Amino acid sequence: MTKSVILTGLRANNDLTLGNYFGGMLPMIDMAKTRSEEFQINMFIPDLHSFTTPIDHSQLFEQVLQNAKLFVAAGLPINNDDINLYRQSFIPAHSELTWILDNFTGFGQMERMTQFKDKSAGASEVSVGLFNYPVLMAADILLYGAKYVPVGDDQTQHLEFTRDIAERVNTRFGALFVIPEPVKKQHEFFGKDQGLRIMDLVDPTKKMSKSDEFGKGVIFLNDEPDVAAKKIMSATTDDKANVTFDRVNQPGISNLLEIASLIRGKSIDETAKQFEGESRYGEFKKIVAEEVRVFLSEFQMRLASVDESEVLNKLESSEVRMNEQANATLLNVQQAVGLRKKA
Ligand code: TYM
Repeated sequence: MTKSVILTGLRANNDLTLGNYFGGMLPMIDMAKTRSEEFQINMFIPDLHSFTTPIDHSQLFEQVLQNAKLFVAAGLPINNDDINLYRQSFIPAHSELTWILDNFTGFGQMERMTQFKDKSAGASEVSVGLFNYPVLMAADILLYGAKYVPVGDDQTQHLEFTRDIAERVNTRFGALFVIPEPVKKQHEFFGKDQGLRIMDLVDPTKKMSKSDEFGKGVIFLNDEPDVAAKKIMSATTDDKANVTFDRVNQPGISNLLEIASLIRGKSIDETAKQFEGESRYGEFKKIVAEEVRVFLSEFQMRLASVDESEVLNKLESSEVRMNEQANATLLNVQQAVGLRKKA
């Protein structure tokens, strides 16, 4: 019997943020470490997704390798054949399935995608690639029959979209695709009540995002640890003089509590309890800043010791295996839609 698949991808545009780390990377790496006997683990770098917004193409290839190394530094085991680490563009079936799915996707549904609306608002150039991005993401997931897909909450609409498109195609052509679990079930599976949305440190009402050009509200995994600690020290808080977890009325303090609990691997409740009654935000921030500093120093030390040739070997061997799996799904679809002779 083939195993169910847990899959996720992180784009390699820029350097990854603490939000990416907690929202997409860590849950997946936890699964890879603990569940690879029961599940096939697919961790990949959506390099084709990387230029849905403008980037420096001369850096992309190296950036993709760097991201693969980041996953390894974060603890992804690579000496295990049930764990796959691969680059999207090395498996051409992703692009081919996207084109087929495009033709079973309504323009109206795509226009309603929140991320497209956010990213295209005010942009001087909006590409068809940015518009079409959720279909490529659906192909990424459906090619391998992934059941569980850990993502931050900015991507859950795309996950629901993937389910819609898979159901639509299955209704028309028979059971071609495994339908990923609905978002609620995903959250139950990953046991996640935190890490889904790390907020910007300067404006804690918006998501921490790598596209923030000044970077003051964003902690990047490659920030100098002391610089990151300073960003925590100057994070926006409030005038309530009370360290409590209350996302609505104290979004800044709540975000810092969340970051601290994720770094500690503890629940928010437990972390909040430690600071109960604390009215001096400076003292609270000092503790969080120091924990972030230590976390980044250790992470960066591990990254420096990752062996690039081992990572390259892992990518190449996974890509051989992924091409086989993806091509098998693609062939079923091609047969169903009449592009190939039925077996
Ligand atoms: P991307 O590269 O923008 O982000 C990677 C992951 O990080 C999560 N994330 C956050 N989580 C918590 N707090 C934040 N502030 C925060 N910012 C980002 C994202 O939700 C994501 O999980 N389309 C995807 C990549 C992708 C993908 C896929 C993911 C392509 N194909 C197939 C899963 C399955 C993206 O752009 O994520």
